[in-house]
Amino acid sequence: MRIAFVGGGHMTTSLVGGLRARGVAGDDLRVSDPVAAQRERLQLEFGVHATPDNAAAVRDADVVVMAVKPQDMAAAARSIAAELAARRRVVVSIAAGIRIAQLVQWLGDGTPVVRTMPNRPALIGSGITAACAGPGAGPSDRTTVEDVLSTAGPLVWLDDESLMDAVTAVSGSGPAYFFLLVEALEDAGAALGLPRDVARRLASWTALGAGRMLTESSEPPARLREQVTSKGGTTAAALAVLERAGLHDTFAAAVAAAARRSAELADQFGEQSGSR
Ligand SMILES: NC(=O)c1ccc[n+]([C@@H]2O[C@H](COP(=O)([O-])OP(=O)(O)OC[C@H]3O[C@@H](n4cnc5c(N)ncnc54)[C@H](OP(=O)(O)O)[C@@H]3O)[C@@H](O)[C@H]2O)c1
Repeated sequence: MRIAFVGGGHMTTSLVGGLRARGVAGDDLRVSDPVAAQRERLQLEFGVHATPDNAAAVRDADVVVMAVKPQDMAAAARSIAAELAARRRVVVSIAAGIRIAQLVQWLGDGTPVVRTMPNRPALIGSGITAACAGPGAGPSDRTTVEDVLSTAGPLVWLDDESLMDAVTAVSGSGPAYFFLLVEALEDAGAALGLPRDVARRLASWTALGAGRMLTESSEPPARLREQVTSKGGTTAAALAVLERAGLHDTFAAAVAAAARRSAELADQFGEQSGSR
């Protein structure tokens, strides 16, 4: 399977690195990017075919990954529309806020499109991606997409595209919530007298350990929490303070605000791109 990436930035570098590590030949990977230094880096590091010409990159590819910023998506999609018209292949978008209908309009009617939302830890192979298949994308297209993106972490499918705003709010923006939590834990540890670097290591590794337990155990988070919370103990004392401060409600309001913002941004992209 030949894979083309339109846009050769952070996400492409990480996905290409993962595919090469999995044994995919550099010869089967194409990347287009306007920046010469970016192309040279990808060529040298991974042995991929790199070109400034988007259409040339996708010409003989079996799957196309659109990995440009949302504001560059209209131009990038239009630049490959003629090539896609020549032969059917699935196009995967990893850009936030660009709707499937909008992409199909730029790429050409009938183009099978899968919209995905990876998150930042995808850059180190520990991301989580949600995906939604457009009307033209069938089961084999889904398998292809899973295959290409599996190096970024697991992938979950959603049938309803309108849920992508909720995905953006939970896992897209989610790493920042955990970074904030670790900042707060580090500050709290430092306030209690721990050297800051020690407080940071303790907080960060605790986040990693808790994250691994959450993803590797079949227990729900509430059960894992109960298992480390003995009655009248230290953890119970801390959790009582957090609950009294309304942590659950605060999180609900924060995540709802992110989802609303995601929908607003998608509307804005649609309007701006339509008028271009
Ligand atoms: N990085 C993340 O953590 C993350 C997480 C989830 C989703 N995403 C999404 O993934 C996409 C890529 O993100 P990224 O961080 O990899 O971005 P990036 O590092 O900025 O890479 C995008 C690359 O595409 C190039 N480009 C711009 N217009 C182009 C065009 N018309 N044709 C071909 N290439 C073009 C850019 O060149 P110039 O520099 O010259 O513009 C840049 O080299 C974005 O839509 C982002 O929302 C990123």
